[in-house]
Parts: sequence; structure tokens; C-alpha cells
Amino acid sequence: MSTQLSSVEVKRITTHIIQEMKHRGEKISALTAYDYSMARIVDAAGIDIILVGDSASNVIAGHETTLPITLDQMIYHAQAVVRAVKRAFVVVDLPFGSYQGNSRAALDSAIRIMKESGAHAVKVEGGIEIKDSITRILSAGVPVMGHLGLTPQSIYKFGTYTVRAKEEAEAEKLLQDAQMLDEIGCFGMVLEKIPASLTQKVSQSVSIPTIGIGAGPHADGQILVLHDLLGITKEFKPRFLRRYADLHGIMTDAVQNYVKDVKSNDFPNEKESY
Ligand code: KIV
Repeated sequence: MSTQLSSVEVKRITTHIIQEMKHRGEKISALTAYDYSMARIVDAAGIDIILVGDSASNVIAGHETTLPITLDQMIYHAQAVVRAVKRAFVVVDLPFGSYQGNSRAALDSAIRIMKESGAHAVKVEGGIEIKDSITRILSAGVPVMGHLGLTPQSIYKFGTYTVRAKEEAEAEKLLQDAQMLDEIGCFGMVLEKIPASLTQKVSQSVSIPTIGIGAGPHADGQILVLHDLLGITKEFKPRFLRRYADLHGIMTDAVQNYVKDVKSNDFPNEKESY
């Protein structure tokens, strides 16, 4: 699959290419995006995977958790991202309540995302508990990415956003869930906020790529929430986050300067007028 981008051939990232990256030891880069303008920048900058994450519930809509975001809202974000993307593989989160406990509903939700947004895959949170839902989605030919460790849709079960699977029993269950995701045919999985040593063990014991967030250096790839990486979400400071810019500061300065220029009648000047 390839697209024409102003006479330059752009080779689209596929599940096959992502799988090959793991096998040749090339790390996979992934970021979230939720809208056209940001997705365009992220895609053109060379990211491999764009996740239309349900973290949109937090960073875009301002909710405390990811639980309130709806399937319609996820589709709206995914449509905007897909319109922008020429190269990256676009994965969309199935939101809370759209896939757990009912595999028929899970399939319907996944099909709506694929049909209405044009995205390339869906992501779901959980292990053995949602095996039926994942299997049914896979049976329709929809690529599925798993998500283990800290799964924010279960925040009220965990009670906190601290590191998961530090205890042996939870680590063992996570390893079994990861192997199950691999066996039933998922193309990859996110590992969130687990010890680096467990990420290493999981990554070595599954054939599909692991994409880590707060899971140390041994995952096959890394993902961050775009607004965190860009320094827009100033208050969120987990240890795993590396900020690559201070957009909060840059944007605040820009808006303050604009306000000043408008108030002082400096903007617009003669050259900026017709
Ligand atoms: O919704 C999201 O942004 C995610 C990432 C943190 C992996 O699931």
C-alpha cells in the first residue's frame, strides 16, 4: 500500500512492517494524536504508529479519567487524524463500555471505527477477561492491539495510577495475558507502567511487538501522549515522561503578546491591513 505525496512515493506503515521492525531490532516509535493539524505534523515528522487514544478524554475534553469518552467521539477524533496521515499506521482506542463483556458489541464497535474513520486497527485494554471480544474482532479481519499493565479504563478497580505488576502474581498473570494476545493473533500490545524487567521478559516471550509507556527501555517500541511530550500538559510529571518542548510556555507567551498588541493598538498594523 502506498500513497502519492506531491510526486514522492510514501510507503505506508502496515502491521507487517511493524512486525518486521521487531524482528530486525528496529525500535517502533508511537505517539497519540487526536486532530488533523497535530496528526499532520506528527506523521510528516516520521512517526510509525499514531494512536487515537482515549486519553483524548483527559487532554482534549478535560475529564479526570478516560471513562466518559464515547464511541462517537472516538470516531470523530479518528476521522480527523486519518484525513491527515500519509504514512503512519493509525490505531484507535475502543472506549470504555464499547467492547467488554459482549463480543458482538465489541465487533460492532470495531467495525464502526474501521468503516466510519478509515483507521487501520483498534486497541483494547485487558487480558483473558476480554479474550472473546478480541477473538471476534480479529475474526472480522480487524487488526487488534492489546494493552496490559496500567489500564486506565480500570482506574476505579486499581484506585491509583502507580506502577502495576510489581508483585509476582500480577506479573505472572500479565505474562500469561501477553502470551494469549500473541497466540490469538493481536499484532502488538501496549505495556503501561510496569517494571522494566517484566517488560523485558514479556518482549522476549512474545513474537509480536510490545510498545511501552513507563515500561522501561526493553519494549520493542515506545509511546507517549503527544501533549505530554510537547509540554502542553504542564502539571503531569511522571518519572517516565521526557518532555521534548515547553509548548505551554511558548503558547502562553504568544497569547500574552497578542493580547498586549491588541490592547496597545499595535496589531494589526498597516502592512497587516487591506
Ligand atoms: O489513550 C492513550 O493515550 C493510551 C496510551 C497511553 C498508550 O492508551
